Amino acid sequence: MVNILQLVFSVVSLVSFWRRPEDVFESLHDGYAHLAVDPSPEVTKSIAIVGAGSAGLGALKALLDLPEEVREGWEIVLYEARRDVGGLWLADPPGYEPTPPNVPETPMYPRVHTNTPHTTMTYPHFPFRPGTPLYPSWEHVQTYHADYAAHYNLTPYINLNHTVVFAKWHSHDGTGDWHVETHAQHGNPGGEVVIRRTFDHLVVAVGHNRFPHIPTWEGTDGWLTNTPADSPTREIVHSVYYREPAKYANMTVIMVGSGTSARDIAQQIEPLARVVYQSVKDGKPTAPDTTVIPKPAISYFTNDSIVFEDGTALYDVDAVILATGYDLRVPFLSEPQSSVMLTDASPDVNCTTAPTLTDNLRYIFPLYQQIFNLAPTMPPTALTFVGLPMLTSQSPTDYAQGLLISHAFANESLLPSREEMLQNTVEREEALRAKGVDPYYDGHRMVLSDTEPNEYQDNLIEYLKQQGAIPDDGQRYVEEWRWFARANAPLLVRAWKRVQKLEEEDEWIAGIETEEEWADLMVRLAHWQSEWEREHPSRLDSSDIVPNEWLYG
Ligand SMILES: Cc1cc2nc3c(=O)[nH]c(=O)nc-3n(C[C@H](O)[C@H](O)[C@H](O)COP(=O)(O)OP(=O)(O)OC[C@H]3O[C@@H](n4cnc5c(N)ncnc54)[C@H](O)[C@@H]3O)c2cc1C
Ligand SMILES: *[C@@H]1O[C@H](CO)[C@@H](O)[C@H](O)[C@H]1NC(C)=O
Ligand SMILES: *[C@@H]1O[C@H](CO)[C@@H](O)[C@H](O)[C@H]1NC(C)=O
Ligand SMILES: *[C@@H]1O[C@H](CO)[C@@H](O)[C@H](O)[C@H]1NC(C)=O
Ligand SMILES: *[C@@H]1O[C@H](CO)[C@@H](O)[C@H](O)[C@H]1NC(C)=O
Ligand SMILES: *[C@@H]1O[C@H](CO)[C@@H](O)[C@H](O)[C@H]1NC(C)=O
Repeated sequence: MVNILQLVFSVVSLVSFWRRPEDVFESLHDGYAHLAVDPSPEVTKSIAIVGAGSAGLGALKALLDLPEEVREGWEIVLYEARRDVGGLWLADPPGYEPTPPNVPETPMYPRVHTNTPHTTMTYPHFPFRPGTPLYPSWEHVQTYHADYAAHYNLTPYINLNHTVVFAKWHSHDGTGDWHVETHAQHGNPGGEVVIRRTFDHLVVAVGHNRFPHIPTWEGTDGWLTNTPADSPTREIVHSVYYREPAKYANMTVIMVGSGTSARDIAQQIEPLARVVYQSVKDGKPTAPDTTVIPKPAISYFTNDSIVFEDGTALYDVDAVILATGYDLRVPFLSEPQSSVMLTDASPDVNCTTAPTLTDNLRYIFPLYQQIFNLAPTMPPTALTFVGLPMLTSQSPTDYAQGLLISHAFANESLLPSREEMLQNTVEREEALRAKGVDPYYDGHRMVLSDTEPNEYQDNLIEYLKQQGAIPDDGQRYVEEWRWFARANAPLLVRAWKRVQKLEEEDEWIAGIETEEEWADLMVRLAHWQSEWEREHPSRLDSSDIVPNEWLYG
């Protein structure tokens, strides 16, 4: 009770309202306190950000970086469902064992290391801590995000343990407001508090990596229920539930998929498992440096076998791990919670025909620059997304998006007209199609060209300069060393592998602190490695040639 009252006071002191006084302590039964908070007259603009991962933190920082006189009277609230910042880099709660059908809070497993150098995963001018290995374990990335929040004093704006349950748009007179319901867990025995309030702007920063995409095949039920005597119980499980390789000791496993998770998990379990097969679509590569046996796509299951598209079958499989990616969903905007975003995968629904914002579980549209909602139901700045582009360096992209959003909140006429924005979006879709990429499947992937990810960031910032919103310092947003790191990504992976083999990590990173020093380290590493490779061409094999798309997932 005391805790709930403390919460109420803290919330009342923070915020403005949803004009339904009857909601205040509507009830206290079942350990739920319902509350709404009265408007605070000083607030001129209210903004809710959802998510405190890389994207949400970048957006929050960008908002706070507006000149103080511009954001005077603005109220900025970030809701994060989990117990700390960091998004998917924050590990499971202590003692938690992910078990279907409950979706774990993070797909991350204890042995995750980054597949990109941390130097490229930084917000502008905020490098990782000195001494961080170039391809660090998840702990370092988690610490980085926590450091960022603390260093820039973001914490007072962040409400942890607050899950946004729905956000409904109430339109009036060409504008409108959001009615947002949030459930707060304070770890107290009193349970949950329901908070309802309104906002002018909603910034969605909930990531891509939450809801498993689970393909279905004929016969899985029969296969699962017919485990032979003396065998471990058969299972088919998505990679979001994977944590430790020991579980697969002496098992025969099929890894389904060819993405980063598939390769990484296959590499981890291969030394322990009896046999690991990897089922990949036509011609996709399997995990390098392993004895993993390639198989084509699965066709169907029988009571005692798994049959592949080439007609071959496997009879002794114990476990199937589905590293089959994620469905892109935002439940608090979608049915049944809200009707802001419709889920519809029909090919007739596209940017020009969609009656409202639409999600086909891969692509959200129509959005300008993958940020601003262009559906006719609300102004483009009412609903914005941060973190949708994939295969780009996340944090600098998140911050660049956040800056455009912040300035557009301050001055709505900064954005092009809705028609121009829609035209721009349709043009990118057409350009993707011309490259053989289906925009309604891969539209959030920055695959238009090798340079699209960096140019995208530059263009957002250049646009702000052109509009006079930020000073033109004559510098590109994406520094030269970020281009260098991207262009030389496979070489750097090979370099660091060799550094590790030589046990020289500490020597290489000793004394390195500033952004410039980290950038210089990458250049030195690349030269050191390419020289060695010139002298030892025979020591390179095909598994060393890592395509760029493996490195930005
Ligand atoms: C296993 C794995 C390894 C990866 N490795 C790399 C790598 O090496 N290099 C790289 O650049 N990228 C990597 N990525 C990509 C990664 O997705 C991005 O780097 C980045 O961390 C994503 O940040 P985000 O903020 O967009 O999403 P997330 O980190 O998922 O954060 C979203 C946050 O929103 C919160 N949230 C969601 N719904 C609600 C709600 N209703 N109410 C309140 N809060 C909510 C979640 O709790 C979460 O904290 C990896 C991804 C995975 C899955
Ligand atoms: C969030 O929840 C966790 C676990 O439920 C609890 O330990 C922690 O104190 C809570 N944090 C806040 C800020 O309420
Ligand atoms: C498969 O197993 C189920 C029981 O799990 C059984 O009912 C069914 O007849 C079996 N099918 C075949 C073709 O053997
Ligand atoms: C795996 O099999 C080997 C050989 O049969 C055995 O020695 C070992 O204990 C088994 N490991 C586990 C974890 O069952
Ligand atoms: C959208 O679909 C309609 C009808 O199928 C089609 O005429 C139109 O060209 C499509 N537009 C885009 C941008 O794909
Ligand atoms: C808002 O942006 C427009 C377009 O860039 C610009 O002309 C106008 O001066 C800006 N208004 C303010 C108050 O900065």
